[in-house]
Amino acid sequence: ENESSVSITVVGASGDLAKKKIFPALFALYYEDCLPKHFTIYGYARSKMTDAELRNMVSKTLTCRIDKRENCSEKMDQFLKRCFYHSGQYDSEDNFSQLDKKLKKHEGGRVSNRLFYLSIPPNIFTEAVKCASLSASSYNGWTRVIVEKPFGRDSESSAALTKTLKQYLAEDQIFRIDHYLGKELVENLSVLWFANLIFEPLWSRRYIRNVQLIFSEDFGTEGRGGYFDNYGIIRDIMQNHLLQILALFAMETPVSLDAEDIRNEKVKVLRSMRPLRLEDVVVGQYKSRSRGGVTYPSYTDDKTVPKDSLTPTFAAAALFIDNARWDGVPFLMKAGKALHDRRAEIRVQFRHVPGNLYNRNFGTDLDRATNELVIRVQPGEAIFLKINNKVPGLGMRLDRSNLNLHYAARYSKEIPDAYERLLLDAIEGERRLFIRSDELDAAWALFTPVLAELEEKKIIPESYPYGSRGPVGAHYLAARYNVRWGDLD
Ligand code: BG6
Repeated sequence: ENESSVSITVVGASGDLAKKKIFPALFALYYEDCLPKHFTIYGYARSKMTDAELRNMVSKTLTCRIDKRENCSEKMDQFLKRCFYHSGQYDSEDNFSQLDKKLKKHEGGRVSNRLFYLSIPPNIFTEAVKCASLSASSYNGWTRVIVEKPFGRDSESSAALTKTLKQYLAEDQIFRIDHYLGKELVENLSVLWFANLIFEPLWSRRYIRNVQLIFSEDFGTEGRGGYFDNYGIIRDIMQNHLLQILALFAMETPVSLDAEDIRNEKVKVLRSMRPLRLEDVVVGQYKSRSRGGVTYPSYTDDKTVPKDSLTPTFAAAALFIDNARWDGVPFLMKAGKALHDRRAEIRVQFRHVPGNLYNRNFGTDLDRATNELVIRVQPGEAIFLKINNKVPGLGMRLDRSNLNLHYAARYSKEIPDAYERLLLDAIEGERRLFIRSDELDAAWALFTPVLAELEEKKIIPESYPYGSRGPVGAHYLAARYNVRWGDLD
């Protein structure tokens, strides 16, 4: 009887994120036996819906992803029986206290732990936090709230949001998600560096020439223009996903693998960085292009985007960490929508070998001979190490070849979705992969000045055709720091 129960309430249950990611991730956890024995899932949203209708909606996006050979319909049915629906306004304490009554029934007097996943737009966010925490908090177990970005639009609005959240919740109840931290290869970064002697000593300005963080999507903002136009690619991808990867990549060895120790090191990296300067950023916006009989739209063709919008859908930036380890090493970021491919990767370019006997084999282009470590976060998770190798034969010709670790070939188990890892961690109270408020402040401090300048000076983004490799300005920016984008080779 002492066993505790967990109630998970997805606030904004009919939204896209809930349908595509949260419910499927919860099902995957259930399938893998990772959810506690006594759990209940509630969808909460404004529209009227019965439990049966919610189950029907949720069932459409559940898949047997984990073990494709097995028919998991029985498990799906069992899972769906644990899902319920409560209709309510996001700013109504009454509606949340009705939910509280329902949750209590399921909890049956056990110690009750409650997790709220707020999957709702920012303007209704704080009201929902207030109502959920005042009216549906657990009274004898823990209450945790998962929140999604945007966490404000700049330092000031983010600080205001944090302040409001803290009126109702303690910092250790707030789980700020950056779903990139839940990606397998991002989590592996520390293992790669800290657990491998062949990398650990190389991880510094001494041997690393530059680091590239690349995010591209081969589709535009179709359907999300309303949200996107208010934020732009720097806020949507760079300030969070790419910067988080950078911090994990560049941090010093933490005292332990404890969440506070790791986040302390990440904050130190962020606080050692120079705020991004206007001359170190290039912005772009995609324009329509016809190809193979298909016409792809311009960003501003979206009805929810103003015709004269200057919001960047692409940005490239050069960032620097002013500490002993990374002094002078450019960290180049590139993020864009409607580009020629979809990928997220980290590329580490090493320095030239001093006095290399084989230099002449590379002609004048010594850059072609640098070692490069490529961490492909997605799609097709992989790690490549580019080394110079003799082309077999009687002559002496070198070329750069890859040592490849393709996850699909090496590991038979399906890689979990980022949301599975993060939901499980939130249920278990593991904070390692969630953003602490001082991290968030430090992240905004790096981008707020340049964002304000871009907007005040009405900087016109360079246009690039839909499906291209992005604006040419990104090459000039990299070239200024002696860098060639590795993804273009
Ligand atoms: C989100 C951004 O955080 O990440 C989206 O708001 C982007 O614009 C998405 O498409 C990319 O996530 P993933 O996991 O599909 O690479």
